[in-house]
Amino acid sequence: MLYKSELKSLAGCILVVAGLSACSANGDYPGTEYAPQMYHSVPYEPLSQITDESAGGWLSSSGNQTAEFYNSNPHNPNRMTMREPAENTVKRAGSLPYRYPKDTAGSTYYLDLAAQTLRNPLPENEEILAGGRLLYDNFCSPCHGGAGAGDGPVGEVYKGVPNFSAGRYAEMTEGHIFHVITHGQGRMWPYASQVDPEERWKIVRYVQTLQKQQ
Ligand code: HEC
Repeated sequence: MLYKSELKSLAGCILVVAGLSACSANGDYPGTEYAPQMYHSVPYEPLSQITDESAGGWLSSSGNQTAEFYNSNPHNPNRMTMREPAENTVKRAGSLPYRYPKDTAGSTYYLDLAAQTLRNPLPENEEILAGGRLLYDNFCSPCHGGAGAGDGPVGEVYKGVPNFSAGRYAEMTEGHIFHVITHGQGRMWPYASQVDPEERWKIVRYVQTLQKQQ
């Protein structure tokens, strides 16, 4: 016959033994863990493919005999760690070689450097030119005018918009134009956030045709 107090101490002993056995972690064995997925992350490279069939194996089975992260999502048939960006996502310039710091007041060092060294990487063809024209019409013509004479409807209010085919503007190099679109110049704002580098080079092609206009 066990008394109440004896029962209590027996229960206490069982708890202590269970508690200690949970602490027997060593080497590669972490002991008994509660919610292990909270401690162990799966450090995959971004936009890479999961090829390890046991990845996420501690999570509930996905029903197809492979572990949770491996092909568990029917909308991710290629088992990518990240989804590809949605259609029509606009890419931003990253650490690209032609990202010079802004010209400091009064200095045109970076503009001059760009003007002398940057070359258009795009081929010369009608498709590039047509693309450039479309972008120019959208982003530049409101100020610079359809033919680049500086007479766009916004330009007339904004004032001081140059004519691309007059004086030194007709002599601007492709690198110069690219730099101005990227960083702005004087009273003109930069357009780097609106048009990506490839689009800028297309615009440059089209502006060059406007420079040759009479
Ligand atoms: C909001 C009006 C506006 C828009 C839009 C605009 N520009 Fe300009 N742009 C100007 C003004 C004003 C100047 C003169 C800046 C100055 O000298 O202070 C200028 C100057 C320039 C110059 C000559 C820079 C120099 O060396 O003096 C180039 C090249 C140029 N713009 C290209 C473009 C292109 C390409 C686009 C379209 C991506 C564009 N601009 C959009 C207002 C605009």
